[in-house]
Formats: sequence, C-alpha cells, structure tokens
Amino acid sequence: MFKGLGIALPSRVLTNQDLEKIVDTSDEWITQRTGIKERRIVGPGESNSKLAVEAAKKALKKAQIAPEELDLIIVATFTPDYLMPSVAVLVQDQLGAKNAGAFDVAATCSGFIYALSLADQFIRVDPGKKILVIGSEVLSHKVNWEDRTTCVLFGDGAGAAVLTGPEKDRGVLSTHLHADGSLWHLLTVKGCGSLYPPCSEDLPREEYFIRMQGREVFKHAVRAMEEVALEALEKNKCSPEDLTLVVPHQANIRIIEALRERLGLPPEKVYVNLHKYGNTSAASIPLALTEAEEEDRLKPGDLVLMVAFGGGFTWASALVRW
Ligand code: ACO
Repeated sequence: MFKGLGIALPSRVLTNQDLEKIVDTSDEWITQRTGIKERRIVGPGESNSKLAVEAAKKALKKAQIAPEELDLIIVATFTPDYLMPSVAVLVQDQLGAKNAGAFDVAATCSGFIYALSLADQFIRVDPGKKILVIGSEVLSHKVNWEDRTTCVLFGDGAGAAVLTGPEKDRGVLSTHLHADGSLWHLLTVKGCGSLYPPCSEDLPREEYFIRMQGREVFKHAVRAMEEVALEALEKNKCSPEDLTLVVPHQANIRIIEALRERLGLPPEKVYVNLHKYGNTSAASIPLALTEAEEEDRLKPGDLVLMVAFGGGFTWASALVRW
C-alpha cells in the first residue's frame, strides 16, 4: 500500500506569458490546446537527483520509515543526471539508504506506473518489503526552446511514494503494462545515446531535443489510455462508477477530457493539475497523487485508477485500493 507521498518542484515558474517572449505563441493557444498555464523549470544547482531526494525525504517522513529500512529504490526517469550512474543510486547515497538496491526505469511518461508495477511484484513475493518509487524528470534540458510545438508542453519536477505490503484490503490491486515499439519514431530524444554520441560531427542539433508528432501521439494516447483503464477495471470486476478518483498522466487537458468522456465520469472524479506543471513525464502521476491527497481527495478505502501514456509508445494503468 501507499505509505507516504512527497513532491519536489523547482522554484522557477515559467508562465505562458514568459513563453510568448521566447517563441511565436500565445497564452490563448497554449491554454486552449493543452490546458497548461505555467510550468516549473530547474535553475542553477537544481538537478533530477536533487528533486528526487527532496521528494523522497518528504515521502519517507510521511510514511515514518527511516532510509535504512528501505529494501529497494526505483526511479522512473528518461532525463537522469548522468548516463551512468543511475539517479536511483544517487538517491540511495544521499538518503543514506544503505540497505537498499537501486535502479532506474526508462518508460517515459508511463515510467511511474511501470516502476510501481515492479515494486508491487517484489511486495507480492515478500509483503515485508519497503520500496521507494520515484518519478523524477528534468525535461527543460531536453526541450528545444526554439520549437514552439514542444517547448510549451513540458516541465520539471519529482514525486515519490513509499510502498509496503497491503494492510487489510488496502494496496495495489493490479497493474497493466503495454508497449508498441513500432511507433518509437513519433516521440524521440535521439542525441547522447550510443548511436548519436555528443561528439558526432554529423549530429543535427535538433537530435538532442524532444521531437514529437503531436497529432499522432494525441490519437494513440486517447485510445490506449481508455483501453488500459478498462483493462484494469475488467480485471478487478469493477465499473467506472466504482472509481473514487482517476489520476491520469498530465499531458494535455484534451486527452484527459477525452478519457473522462469515454469512461463516462463526471469532472470531479478525474484529477487535474497540469495547468500548474505542464507535462512532467514520469513525475506527473506522483505529483498528482500527492496533491490529490493533500487536498483530501484520496481517503483510505477509495478506489483509485492511475493511467498513463508516453514515448515508445508505452502505456499502463494501476488500480489501487487507497
Ligand atoms: N503556439 C502557437 N501555435 C502553435 C504552437 C504554439 N505553441 N504549436 C503549434 N502551433 C500551430 C501549428 O504550427 C499549427 O499551425 P498550422 O495549422 O498553421 O500548421 C497549429 O498550431 C496546429 O498544430 P497541431 O500540432 O495540429 O496542434 P494540436 O491541436 O494537435 O496540439 C499538441 C498540439 C498540444 C502537441 C497535441 O497534439 C498534443 O497534446 N499531443 C500529445 C502530447 C502527449 O500526449 N504527449 C504524451 C507523451 S510525452 C512523453 O512521453 C515525454
């Protein structure tokens, strides 16, 4: 079950009005097409691992679990501080979680649910396990600030959750993971991997940044999120009316609205905070979960559905008895 949640956000706020000064865009276009009003951007001295550690400390405090008690740390990210080592080992070191294994998971915007699914498998084998699951991203360094079609969408942040075995009927009921690698080319950051190393002379600059065929991504996102949401409900013999709250990946309000309509849910049953943070990829679901709990919208016994879609493509859902 979810024992404690925590988030960390860079202090710098970048509004739509700020973006109007950088690229040919408008607050009206961004708001209408995406629902985003502002996003957080790292400044000097801020990094993925720093955000992850700050979020983790808050989650551990809430869970009343000491870092040394942790068995495992999983960080979902595709924007690590370094290619090696992982963000997870940096977190392990800075927390002093000396008894924990640590590794990263790269599944883009579905990363947090993928990591949650892994944690859940460990816990099903040994319910005594204590596992820290983090989604943390610094997307602002992967954004081409001259490309208005992508730079208005993304933001930085981190969210963490401490997971332990179920108590009574509270815990993860099921997780569902999917991918379609044949569509990888629709959403990419090619640079800095081993195929396009930074020193390569023929590397076009744009290869370093997020490139996305937005309309195609949009279509697939709506269809896949609906399918994987229904899969979780069917697996647990539930219907959408049984849900207390849906916490979707926060990419675009129109995707979230389409999902809500397809599930036949009223607006108050779907959590939205993307107007404040934009698309923070793997961080978006733990950011939303934490704020939903702080706003008293998640209570013990609630039935909560998380659902995400991202580059790869990957998509995933998790049904949780909160
Ligand atoms: N400001 C003003 N105009 C813009 C901007 C902007 N920031 N960006 C694009 N436009 C223009 C385009 O040039 C185009 O102009 P044209 O008609 O003259 O050619 C027009 O607006 C429409 O562009 P579209 O791309 O068709 O706009 P659309 O309504 O599809 O919205 C968006 C684009 C917001 C990217 C949408 O497609 C989307 O949200 N896609 C999905 C994103 C997503 O879900 N990502 C999740 C995964 S992310 C991950 O895994 C890291």
